[in-house]
Order: sequence, then C-alpha cells, then structure tokens
Amino acid sequence: MIKKYVFGKPMDTGAVVAKVKATVPEGSKIGELTVDEKNKTITYIMPPKARIYGLGETVRGINKRGWLYISNNTDNPHHEEGKHSLYASQNFIIVDNGDGKCFGFYFDHPGEVRFDIGFTKSDVFAVSAEDFDFSLYYIEEDSPLEIVKSFRGLVGKSYEAPLWAYGYGQSRWGYKNASDIREVRDSYKKLGIPLDMIYMDIDYMQDFKDFTVNPERFPDFEAFVRDMKADGIRLIPIIDAGVKIEKGYDVYEEGIKNDFFCKKEDGTPLVAAVWPGKVHFPDFLNPAAAKWFGDKYKVLTDMGIEGFWNDMNEPAIFYTEDHLKEVFGELENIKDKELDIWGFFGFKGLIDSINNNPEDYRRFFHEFNGVKVRHDKVHNLYGFYMTKAAGEAFERNNKDKKILLFSRSSFMGMHRYGGVWTGDNMSWWSHLLLNIKQMPSLNMTGFIYSGADTGGFGSDTTEDLMMRWLGFSIFTPLFRNHSALGTRDQELYRFERSNDFKNIIELRYALIPYIYVECTKAINENGMYFKPLSFEYRDDERAGEIEDQLLVGAHLMIAPVYEQNKTGRYVYLPEDMKLVRFRSYKDFDTEVLTKGDHYVKAELNEILVFIRKGHKLTLTEPAACTDRLDMDRCAATIEF
Ligand code: GLC
Repeated sequence: MIKKYVFGKPMDTGAVVAKVKATVPEGSKIGELTVDEKNKTITYIMPPKARIYGLGETVRGINKRGWLYISNNTDNPHHEEGKHSLYASQNFIIVDNGDGKCFGFYFDHPGEVRFDIGFTKSDVFAVSAEDFDFSLYYIEEDSPLEIVKSFRGLVGKSYEAPLWAYGYGQSRWGYKNASDIREVRDSYKKLGIPLDMIYMDIDYMQDFKDFTVNPERFPDFEAFVRDMKADGIRLIPIIDAGVKIEKGYDVYEEGIKNDFFCKKEDGTPLVAAVWPGKVHFPDFLNPAAAKWFGDKYKVLTDMGIEGFWNDMNEPAIFYTEDHLKEVFGELENIKDKELDIWGFFGFKGLIDSINNNPEDYRRFFHEFNGVKVRHDKVHNLYGFYMTKAAGEAFERNNKDKKILLFSRSSFMGMHRYGGVWTGDNMSWWSHLLLNIKQMPSLNMTGFIYSGADTGGFGSDTTEDLMMRWLGFSIFTPLFRNHSALGTRDQELYRFERSNDFKNIIELRYALIPYIYVECTKAINENGMYFKPLSFEYRDDERAGEIEDQLLVGAHLMIAPVYEQNKTGRYVYLPEDMKLVRFRSYKDFDTEVLTKGDHYVKAELNEILVFIRKGHKLTLTEPAACTDRLDMDRCAATIEF
C-alpha cells in the first residue's frame, strides 16, 4: 500500500507516473517516520538489526547503514568510499527493521537531499533537504521485494534494451577513426571472440560537436556503419550535454535562435566549458528545447546508428566563463604577495574549485513547467531530462526499432527511457567489488539495463583484474569494456590468455537467453534481476550480511572472486545448491554443496555459478554476435 504526503509546494519531477491522492498527515508521524518541519528533517530510529536498502547508484554497501549519502549528481571520477555523491539520485529507501517488519519510502525532490543513515548518530536515520517542498510516498508491504514492486508500479515500467544490447561491447576513449575501429573488429574476429558493439567516444565528432561526424576520420560514415553491421557489429556513439559555441554550427545556431539554452539571471546564455571548449547547455527541462534536441539524434539514426550513450549530463562543468574571471581576479590580488602556507592552500583551493563549482550551478535557470527555476533547485533532473528527450524522440522517430540508450547521470523516472553505466570507475579490485554491490541497488530503483566499465576506466588494468571483472560482468545486462585515454590498452586481444578470454565471452553468449529472459521478467513484473541474498532468505541472518554474492534471476546465485592472487573464496550457501564451475560453456564440473560455509576453488579462468534447488540453467550455443545466436539451440542444461 502506498500513501502520498505533500509538504510545501513540490515541483513535479516527472519521476512518478501513477496517480496517488495525497493523504493529510495526522500530526508529525507518517508510519515509522517522524516529520520535523521546523528543522526540515524526517527521522526514523533504527533498531539495532535494521537494514537499510536503496538509493540506486552510490558508494559503499548494499546495506546503506553507517554513512551520509547526498543526492547531488556529480561528475566525480573518484568513487572512493569517502565520497557522498556520485552521478545519480534515486531517493528510494527500503527499511527492513530486523523483526520481520519492513517499509519503504520515496522522497520526490529534484534538488539536494541528504540521507544521514546512522552517520551522525548510529541509530538515527535522518533525511533532510534545504527546500522542504516534496512529495513523500510511504510504502507498506510484507517484504522488501514487495516494496520494490509497489514502488516500481508508482514510477513506471523500466526501459527495455534491444536483444543485441545484451552482447559484448568494446569501447575506449581514443579510437580516432574508422581504421582504429576496424582494427578492433578484426582483432576480435581473428581470435574468434564474440562482439556486438564498438563504442565511439568523443573523437568521432567534428571538434566534439554533438550530431556531427568528422568527415576526414570517417569519410563515408553511412557505408562504414553498414559495413560494420554486416559483421554483426553496431557502432554506439556518445552524445554530450554541452553544445559547442561556434558560429555556423547548426545545433548552436538553432539553439540560440529558438532560445533553447539555459540562461543566467541577465538573460544571456550561460557559457561553460566541457570537452568541446565553450558550450551552452540545452534546457532539457523546457519541453520545446527537449523535443528539438531529441530530434537531433535522427541525424545519426538516419545513418544507421541504433544506440547511444549520453554523457557529461550532471551537467559536468570544467569551468564557467564567469567563475574563471573571478578566479583570475583573485589571482591578480595574490600574485605579488608573499603567501604563507595557509595562503598557499587557499590559492590551491581556488584552482581546485574551478570545475563543478557549486556556485556555478546557481548561476543559470530553466523554464520548468512554465516557471523560471534556478538550476540548483532542480539539478538532479538534468541527465534524466536529457535522456527523456532522446527516449521520447525515439518513440516518435524510430517506432519500428528498439534503440539502445543509457546515461551517466540519472534520477528516478529516467529508468523508463534508458539504462545507466556507473561512470568513471578505476581499474581497481575494490571497484570490481563496488560494481557487485551497486547492481542490486540499481535494480531496486528500476535500472535493470546497467553495468560498469569492465576492467576499469581510469588507471591501468591488469590481465587478472580484467579476467575476474569479466567473470562478474558476464552477468550484467550492459556488458562493456571501456577505458580512459592514456591508460593501458585493455581490449581482450591485448593480453596473453586470449583463449581464456574467448571462453568467458562465449559463456556470456551461452547465457544470453537466460539473462535476457530474466531481465525481461524483472522489467515486466517490476522485479529485480540482481538481488541481495537477504531479499530471498529473509530469516537467515548470515545471508542478510552477505554483499559479495548475488542472486541473478530466479535460478542462480553467483560468488565472484574480486581479490588479486586468489584461487578461490569462501561462499555462504543459504540452502543446498549445485555449484557449476565453468571454464567454458562446454567445459565445467558440478558439485552439490550443502547449506552453510564452503571454501570453493576458482582458478583465474573459472567462474562460479550456483543453481538453486528446484531450478535449472540452460545454455545456448554461442555465436560471433547476438544476431547469429539461435536462442533455442541448447548447448547444455544443468539441473538441481
Ligand atoms: C567522461 C565519460 C567517459 C568518456 C570520457 C570522454 O569521462 O564518463 O566514459 O570516455 O568522458 O568522452
């Protein structure tokens, strides 16, 4: 059961699609929550055993207890556990109080929200927002899974990616031209490693201008797209939020002419800098501007493109013209002064504060629901509305096709239009573990088509990290190897153990029917594809604390190895299960293990899958790409 409570004058964020009549709260209590309007806080006293779930893409664990999470979409490539915000804001919480009772709530607010979950006081969960204008949806059901189901009924059906988007994708920031991309295709082909997508990062564009293709680097782009497709490979270009300021560039000129860019108080468009240099930000919150920008994707879909990734849409700001002027002014003041050590740190702080500066997010405005709104008040909606603009345009312009779409920044509601990738992680073992923990939380909030940069984006990967990361990522719907400019090359053909890599990717393809069916079920039934063990084994206290094993679909549990130089790991089984140790889709051994703790061997090339009692896993015969998969051709069935 869901009840809605309205405080102040909330904006309609677009997150909720179901019509729920507002209830007037009786006093300060809403179920288990206490609302303190004076201090702009909602509190819940957490019993010692209470577990807190939700919040989608964040740092730290599946159980969110013990940290301060701040919904404030931020371009931050340092996803360390000391951070409070990443790229997304999903203000949905599930409380399992440890005595069999549970409840959930959704705090619908487009600006900054703080979730202090036992951070300031170990038993106090406090939600606060500077503007206490919000709708609160309070959800009471018998289990966390039913709370998820009710919540997702409220926010609408999750995005469905095309089947081919469940294939493997190779990406790297640095592929410059058609021949770089052909080399990727040919190298995979030579080793017989399946591949469905090659991603095109910003270098495909002309001077990083959205909806352009550099004609020197890609002389006949349409023919190139066709040629790749003939090999079963789709090209997936990136689209960035900022539009380059350049006279004669049609997107810029049209945006100016129609007044579609975000403006400052004085009515002039904000000038910020991102990859293209100086840009304006389209006002995606203004429906006319959103329609205009969404229709631009047609430039590329008309050339045969079938998928996109939306980036830099927090929006990321390297600097604004105004703030840079202020900084230079300050520098002028201190230039000839003798700096003491604090003066030096002040100077350094000034420089470090240039990008993504909070003041800059207060400098510009949107036309939102016909009203002028300062950006910071609706900050967390920006990436959502960019992706919504694209998704709605595909519904208009590409009716006969499913277009792949995912975004870096997100908010509740965006899950109806696209998936997410978890942004600029690092090639660190700890980020493989973070990836494992992020997936179920994303699934709770309806982001089913999701995944991380496999192998890690920043810093140098290693062969063993890549192998273990793939061992997990073969289960994530979005399955992409992506890395940053300047880091070690990490296409699978760069490493020595190419045969092991081939076996792992083939196993993914053998699993595609399972993954696709289970994801589709999660989408259609408002369920979850990745679940924490505690959601199914609620009375099992041990299972409640396990965060490095996940349930995958209805039949399987996985226990990835996420530490270097390990040839096995401890696994806890909440019931008897059949262990399948895969070396390839046809080379595996099985063993029945009883409920309890086990040390399980897993060499670098081995992947552990556990089949739950009364369940089975059917594998299909892999193929070079999904278009060539015969989903009904059974390669093996393993039952327990
Ligand atoms: C951002 C994206 C990353 C991309 C890079 C260059 O950092 O998160 O995926 O490679 O920009 O476009």
